[in-house]
Amino acid sequence: MTNPLNKEIDIITSNNSKLKNVDFDNLTFGRTFTDYMFVCDYIDGEWQQPKIMPYQAMTFEPSARVFHYGQAVFEGMKAYKDENDNVILFRPEDNLKRINISAARLAMPEFPKDIFMNGLSTLLKLDKDWIKSGVGNSLYIRPFIIATEPAISASPANSYRFIIICSPAKAYYTGKVRVLFAQKYSRSADGGVGFAKAAGNYAAQFYPTSLAQAKGYQQIIWTDANTHEFLEEAGTMNIFFRINNTLITAPTSDRILDGITRRSIIQLAKDNNINIEVRRVSVIEIKEAAKNGSLKEIFGAGTAAVISPISAFEHADEVFEIPDTENSYASLFKNQLLNIQHNLSDDRHGWRFEV
Ligand code: COI
Repeated sequence: MTNPLNKEIDIITSNNSKLKNVDFDNLTFGRTFTDYMFVCDYIDGEWQQPKIMPYQAMTFEPSARVFHYGQAVFEGMKAYKDENDNVILFRPEDNLKRINISAARLAMPEFPKDIFMNGLSTLLKLDKDWIKSGVGNSLYIRPFIIATEPAISASPANSYRFIIICSPAKAYYTGKVRVLFAQKYSRSADGGVGFAKAAGNYAAQFYPTSLAQAKGYQQIIWTDANTHEFLEEAGTMNIFFRINNTLITAPTSDRILDGITRRSIIQLAKDNNINIEVRRVSVIEIKEAAKNGSLKEIFGAGTAAVISPISAFEHADEVFEIPDTENSYASLFKNQLLNIQHNLSDDRHGWRFEV
């Protein structure tokens, strides 16, 4: 049998670009998709010939395991264009590592690095015109793996599909983000899958988040499932607290996603000589700090959300508004991150990857 790893990507092009119909000034996150997608199947223990084809609907048997047991993992990454029309990715190999960590936890096969990097670069070259230059513009990239085997016994599949789709993006959250600290529901547990980007982690948040939204909160800050006393992450973002001039974020664990933006902010804080503490942070500590005025900022950090300042939180029927701060760390990190991503500043940590 020929080794599919040695095969070129099979590319089916189209002369029918959808680009002309897109209003780039009015994009809703995740609703518009580019002309092409990357697809690679896993059959009989091997990844097969990778393909790039026009973005289109796919058919799956209703018995495909993904529909029954949620055997699905995904990633979120972004491509940017600099002023010279170069396409830049931010720490792409970290996304590959993470999808493979997620896949292993869900008993799914890992995806090979060379097919991923080559597939992604080729896809972005074909979809290049969908990436607009200018800070604030990006192409959101969604790699994912689903269990396609038509079989409904509760066990891992024998066949999978790895797909990459892309969507031009501006902001994920618009306006101020108000959050509710979780007291009843939990996102993840020790020994569970909270650290993985497993599809089910997100679906499980929709109902409690809809209850929070009905009360005027966009997001929940999840607390530890045992005591609900420690603040963990926001589900679509990791979370940072600034008390006086110290930045605090929870350590990653079984329950918390090892965010690439989170990791980058921890490094940027060190680069800026900002005191950063990676440790457990309690609800009581944050409420006290809000009461005595030492809580200066809370912000979320993620690929889609970039850095989203939190303007208020509620816990146990007490609402705390967080006044705007001069010299905000959220804006400092956001600017520094975007400048690196758009090739406007030095890249001392080697985070940029030019396609
Ligand atoms: C990302 O930031 O890429 C995420 O995965 C969050 C997503 C649910 C929009």
